[in-house]
Amino acid sequence: MNELATHLNDIIKKYNPHVFNLLSNMGKKLYYPKGILSQSAEATKKATRFNATIGIATEKKVPMHFEHIQESLQGYSPEDIYPYAPPSGKLELRKEWKRKLLRDNPSLHDRLIGLPITTNALTHGLSLAADLFVEENDTIILPDKYWGNYQTIFHVRRGGNLKTFKLFDNSDTFNVLSFRQCLLQQKDAGKAIVLLNFPNNPTGYTPKEREVEGIISVLMEAAEAGINLAVILDDAYFGLFFEDSVKESLFGRLAGIHPRILPIKVDGATKENYVWGLRVGFLTFAADSPIILEALEQKTNGLIRGTISSSSHLSQTIILRSLQSSQYEEEKYKKHNIMKRRAMKVKEIITREKYKEALGFYPFNSGYFMCLKLNQVDAEELRLHLLNEYGVGTIAINTTDLRIAFSCVEEEDLEELFELIYRGINDLVIKGVSKNV
Ligand SMILES: Cc1ncc(COP(=O)(O)O)c(C=O)c1O
Repeated sequence: MNELATHLNDIIKKYNPHVFNLLSNMGKKLYYPKGILSQSAEATKKATRFNATIGIATEKKVPMHFEHIQESLQGYSPEDIYPYAPPSGKLELRKEWKRKLLRDNPSLHDRLIGLPITTNALTHGLSLAADLFVEENDTIILPDKYWGNYQTIFHVRRGGNLKTFKLFDNSDTFNVLSFRQCLLQQKDAGKAIVLLNFPNNPTGYTPKEREVEGIISVLMEAAEAGINLAVILDDAYFGLFFEDSVKESLFGRLAGIHPRILPIKVDGATKENYVWGLRVGFLTFAADSPIILEALEQKTNGLIRGTISSSSHLSQTIILRSLQSSQYEEEKYKKHNIMKRRAMKVKEIITREKYKEALGFYPFNSGYFMCLKLNQVDAEELRLHLLNEYGVGTIAINTTDLRIAFSCVEEEDLEELFELIYRGINDLVIKGVSKNV
């Protein structure tokens, strides 16, 4: 093993052996090489005469560039567009995102967290966490309603086994018992990766305060039972809380609560700030020692350097400016209200007496989606029927569940959308062709 990796491992083992035991084999081997980038970073500070280190080109002391590109990016200086950003991201952006985390998550104010590491949006952040902590046959515990891409990220790429618990109990609240049962089964293995995503895709659910207390006490019980836990909080839809759920990430509640619990926050601008294609996200660790945070950051930097090398500099510049803009809060509030009005309208429509028999639904109070629970027809057959006969696109999750992204339907069109879904169900019921049992 490289001596820098051994050094990082020794540090992690010394300050928290549980964190060391959570690392995958790849995680153990990772380190940030003292290669071109660190020599170049040194030169940026000290080489006042000539800086002949890094593989970009310059002209008249400005990054060389095409005028026809620069013309379409008026208002951005070449230094903020063309050079490589560091693997961990633009420092100013990372600091700005940390300030945002502290503002948005009151529980974080007295907790120790790292500087967010910039990722190529959330999928990349999740993938980094998987590479660092998931070993072949490790168990990933997650609710039975989850984003399909987790299969590729955690199972196909890393060989982890996805093990689900029931998200909802009979009272339509977070199923703490099922979560507990699933987690405590990992006692013999002594390790689990817990993957929580609130607001949840596909249901649009975020737990309420009492449910969160239940989740945390189960995690504490598992940690006390000797299970090392990497708890990944996928906060893709953070902030889009419309009702009486908690309004902060579980990351703040978990930071520093137990030496066997390593909280990892994966979030970003993608959904929160409506910039899906810009690809700017973050991965943030919480730990009980700044030395562990530094070691984990070094390993993550090594991983980024060996995969994408760094994220888009221009995208990072755009997001940094946005976060610093005086219009940021006002515009965010406006968009939040649009999304909230849509969610409330959906709730008003689907609770109507007329739809009761045909359209069941899972609890939702946040995010982009809601998920219908179909009692009479098969979700995939309904999806195809709605598409072919009515030009309506939805997502079939399994035989009973149909995901509706109200995020991309105007409030005044929602009435018609659900009427068409209802009509589609009735068509299939009348034909007697479709059953989902
Ligand atoms: C729960 C969840 N996590 C992560 C992502 C990926 O986000 P990004 O586009 O930033 O990679 C999505 C996107 O659909 C998602 O629904």
